[in-house]
Amino acid sequence: MKIAILGAMPEEIDPFIVEIPTQIDYYAGNKFYKAEFAGHELFIAYSKIGKVNAAITATLLIEKFKVEALLFTGVAGALKDNFKIGELLYATKLAQHDLDISAFGHPVGYVPGNEIFVNTSKKLNKIAVKTAKDLGLTLKSGVIVSGDQFICDDDKKAWIAKTFGADAVEMEGASVAQVCSAFKVPFFIMRAISDVAGHKAEINYDEFMENSAKTSADFVLKMIEKI
Ligand code: ADE
Repeated sequence: MKIAILGAMPEEIDPFIVEIPTQIDYYAGNKFYKAEFAGHELFIAYSKIGKVNAAITATLLIEKFKVEALLFTGVAGALKDNFKIGELLYATKLAQHDLDISAFGHPVGYVPGNEIFVNTSKKLNKIAVKTAKDLGLTLKSGVIVSGDQFICDDDKKAWIAKTFGADAVEMEGASVAQVCSAFKVPFFIMRAISDVAGHKAEINYDEFMENSAKTSADFVLKMIEKI
């Protein structure tokens, strides 16, 4: 099967590049690594931060490289108190917290032509749960929201958590979800917590991002063996 592995930053996909011999292809400002792993053809890339960057790379992975499934790996800020730094969370559904045409009577997060939330693949989520069980790892699930903002403010954090019933926040997942859903490509969004998205979250992020990114990537690598 052709599987895309997508992260936002080099740190989020580095564990793949280190573990698996890869070939490189450049296209539209993106670097794509190709590899054979566990009987699959992998197409690995980092999009750079933000929803537009992520949407471009996800579209290229689907349209140019014809991937049949996409697994996103990376870090997120926790919006609820029950998450610890380094904990793994996969998205059951995603929304864009910064998409707001409420002035025209739509609910915040409403995507024209779509709904607020995009659901992830139940099949891939099940494989993740089985992987965690077999490895004896704690894997949580929840609502993940994305926006083109690093959230490091307690009031903003509380608003996002309440408005979307969200568990974690990041800057790409919901745009990848929209792209995959438009092309009918099953997708999975994995995140490890790097910070708690409140006041001075950037300090935790700087300290824990790399380790959390590796935790998430290592998990996805194991998960591929079960696909
Ligand atoms: N990714 C990791 N932490 C984040 C935060 N606090 N806000 C947005 N994206 C993030």
